[in-house]
Amino acid sequence: MGVDNDRPVMAITGTSKGLGRAMAEYFVGKGYRVAGCSRGASTLTMEGYSHSQVDVGDERQVRTWVRQIRDEFEKVDVLICNAGAVQSALLMTVTPDDVLQTFLRTQVAGTFYVCREISKLMIARKRGRIITVSSLGVSLHLEGTSAYSATKSAVIEMTKILAKELAPLGITCNSFSPALFMSDSAQAMGEDWSRRLLAMQTIKRTVSIEEVCHVVSFYASPESGSITGQVINMGLVC
Ligand SMILES: NC(=O)c1ccc[n+]([C@@H]2O[C@H](COP(=O)([O-])OP(=O)(O)OC[C@H]3O[C@@H](n4cnc5c(N)ncnc54)[C@H](OP(=O)(O)O)[C@@H]3O)[C@@H](O)[C@H]2O)c1
Repeated sequence: MGVDNDRPVMAITGTSKGLGRAMAEYFVGKGYRVAGCSRGASTLTMEGYSHSQVDVGDERQVRTWVRQIRDEFEKVDVLICNAGAVQSALLMTVTPDDVLQTFLRTQVAGTFYVCREISKLMIARKRGRIITVSSLGVSLHLEGTSAYSATKSAVIEMTKILAKELAPLGITCNSFSPALFMSDSAQAMGEDWSRRLLAMQTIKRTVSIEEVCHVVSFYASPESGSITGQVINMGLVC
């Protein structure tokens, strides 16, 4: 079907807005073909970008998406598990069950399903790079983020275990925690929240999309074949 096999393929979850959309634009600009997904539609129209409406917390939808990627692109070189639920800070005593379930479904089940299904495409070729997005909330033990940070901690744990399981197959798995990046969700958390978070970071400023993509490019590089199970905490000494 005339697939352009020379161009690397990147799958990114959560690309309708925020960090995911910005990474999709950046890596299409660098020559990748990018398969993006989110529950909502995308307004991103660039040659080399294709969007699917997928809820990563729904196993069936994830399987269907990965089948479409296999049919359209035949491979995935790099996966970025970026989709995440971000909600206002809530102390544990007042966190309702629906908030907890949303975090569990998006961060834990979503990362699990997407990594599991896409890694099967990578295993067939004995190569690939899996990159997950965690949060500084994990290292900072931030009050008001018990449900969010617990599920972002699970993302790191899954990444490290998958790194061990896939190392013999030539696939690396790494994670990073972005410093504050001004997405819609970050803005919705409010100015006080941003100020508090920045005060706790070692480098007390927001990060640019170029800085975030530099971390991804480092993990994705052919020279990073021996880097696996690592977590880069941007702007923070842990
Ligand atoms: N911004 C920051 O400063 C910051 C800091 C640390 C970590 N992070 C992490 O970085 C990632 C991106 O954050 P962001 O600030 O860009 O968030 P955002 O602006 O809220 O974007 C989140 C993206 O994920 C998608 N998404 C949410 N639930 C989904 C689901 N169940 N299935 C598929 N897609 C889903 C959203 O699209 P739909 O709603 O259309 O599904 C959207 O495209 C998240 O994992 C977040 O936890 C961000």
